[in-house]
Amino acid sequence: MTTDRNQKRDLLSFQPLARKQIEAIFAFSRKLKHELKRGIVRPRLPEKALAMVFEKPSLRTRVSFETGMIQLGGSAIFLGPDEIQLGLRESAADGARVLSRWADLIVVRTFSQDTLEEMARCASVPIINGLTDLYHPCQVLADCFTLIEKKRRLEGLKIAFVGDGNNVANSWVEAASRLPFSLVVASPKGYEPDALLVAEAKETGARVQVTADPEEAVKDADVIYTDVWTSMGQEAEAEARRRAFRRYQVNRELVARAKRDAVVMHCLPAHRNEEITHDVIEGPQSIIFDQAENRLHVQKGIMVWALKGMKGLKS
Ligand code: CP
Ligand code: NVA
Repeated sequence: MTTDRNQKRDLLSFQPLARKQIEAIFAFSRKLKHELKRGIVRPRLPEKALAMVFEKPSLRTRVSFETGMIQLGGSAIFLGPDEIQLGLRESAADGARVLSRWADLIVVRTFSQDTLEEMARCASVPIINGLTDLYHPCQVLADCFTLIEKKRRLEGLKIAFVGDGNNVANSWVEAASRLPFSLVVASPKGYEPDALLVAEAKETGARVQVTADPEEAVKDADVIYTDVWTSMGQEAEAEARRRAFRRYQVNRELVARAKRDAVVMHCLPAHRNEEITHDVIEGPQSIIFDQAENRLHVQKGIMVWALKGMKGLKS
């Protein structure tokens, strides 16, 4: 586990974060959010440079990190797929070493978690996972923050993730072994979250369950969460996936089986009327756009933690 005193603070998954760190990041992010709403902008990371290496498209992650770093007093440089050309024009290892000579922090969105881990080994500055095929930790941290805002607690909540056991689902499994909620993932056979991760989470005492039955998953749920059936990089499988996931749509009927005050979440972008219906996205139980907003506030907290440690979260 990373501490404030030893190695740099990478965020490649939930691994370096215990409940204590997560709660400190959330408390700080809450303060930043309140300050911003009141028009107060205090530069906590003056002159820091954030490099953003993105091999896949992005709206939320890109803009929230970029504006977040600017609000913190630093600057951000976006490098899309055509710029570094990781593994083609330059190895991921060399790219990470070179960027470390200029940038103070690097956010990476890539395909393989191995590429991200190699970059973290070679970089001398912290690396943050802005989504890989395996994980999307910043998304799920912001989602948990949003749930605390809406439900006042995580304790005792039942979260039903309905759909593909993808990067976002895997990060929910990791979150469940650190935070006090129970998680049920409903996925078709062959599309479940990473089995090893689920087994590890259960070993830590996390309340995680995997089922193929979406109706069972949402019964008594406080939260229904979904994501696209075809993630970035899986486009060739889109038709087969549409068939496999047909029973897993989050629609009015499915939502009606959860608790009356259940909230509906989606990390976006959404394929309306595919994994979730238009009326549910626009309906009164949807907190989807609050999730998107909170990416900004929570990632500002994450950047301050990565660069200044737990002490930085007290300023
Ligand atoms: N939810 C999310 O990460 O969105 P982007 O792919 O637009 O960054
Ligand atoms: N699972 C989706 C998340 C997008 C934010 C994907 O990887 O494309």
